[in-house]
Amino acid sequence: MPLVSLIDMYKPANEQHYAIGQFNVNNLEFIQATLEAAEEMKSPIILAASTSAIKYAGFDYLVNIVRTGASKMTAPVALHLDHGATIDDAKKCIDGGFTSVMIDASHESFEENIRITKEVVKMAHPKNIAVEAELGRLGGIEDNVSVSEKEAILTDPDQAVEFVKQTGCDALAVAVGTSHGAYKFKGEARLAFDRIEIIKKRVKIPLVLHGASGVGQELLDKAQKYGAKLPGAKGVPDEAYKRAIALGINKINIDTDLRLSWIGAVREIIATKPEEFDPRKVLGPAREAVKKVVMGKMKLFDSAGKG
Ligand code: G3H
Ligand code: 13P
Ligand code: ZN
Repeated sequence: MPLVSLIDMYKPANEQHYAIGQFNVNNLEFIQATLEAAEEMKSPIILAASTSAIKYAGFDYLVNIVRTGASKMTAPVALHLDHGATIDDAKKCIDGGFTSVMIDASHESFEENIRITKEVVKMAHPKNIAVEAELGRLGGIEDNVSVSEKEAILTDPDQAVEFVKQTGCDALAVAVGTSHGAYKFKGEARLAFDRIEIIKKRVKIPLVLHGASGVGQELLDKAQKYGAKLPGAKGVPDEAYKRAIALGINKINIDTDLRLSWIGAVREIIATKPEEFDPRKVLGPAREAVKKVVMGKMKLFDSAGKG
């Protein structure tokens, strides 16, 4: 079927308390892996492209490969701009076939974040395209941070209420202790679940968990067995997804876990089959590894069977 608006996907997820996975894609194999996983799991899926992914793959290539894949599927697929930095980034995607955009002006002042997000909502909503915005600063909450330091990082509930009211955004990315990449926590994994609960009770709209990769031991072991160097890598434990979803998270962003599974599979082939030089024999198993991770997340997020 054609690409689906994330506005329409959010509604049942919010009502039935599950999360739709956002999976970042850069190339043909990642798009195939993620879409095959969705179809097999009968799960809705969000394919996301960052501005650097768009630059890498080319806007038209990316949109058209995703469209082609989705057209053959029964599970619903949304195409989302991840961390759009400017109104122009968002406009290009709104005009070019995306069904959801993120405008990330979280580094600006509160007022400027509202102004920029409002502009994007004004462009997107007449086309039924969803808008995600971000409030707060993604980053770990270490044991020794003071209350004021913690408050400077986490999303402020009063601001969240005001922000959603003024902008009319469809989903809000909240800072609750996670961060992007493979090194999320120095000590124990620590998420501010209470903050998710308080914000959700007050804003009601879907909340988004960024920096949510699990960086699981199995992925690390395989990549490191074949030469990857990832000392101290740590992610979000599986149990945390369930709890975060129960409290109001309806979209969970995964990029790093896909990258880790991909590099583990590529490294394995290169290390164990030095005679191999057919790219399909390297990228094929890597595509399978990515697909397996996506299927696992769909079960954990409880989106399996909802598509
Ligand atoms: O949130 C960031 C995503 O992991 C995308 O990263 O800009 O390297 O594509 P990227
Ligand atoms: P990870 O780096 O944890 O996969 O997070 C990805 C993300 O939040 C993309 O927006
Ligand atoms: Zn993110």
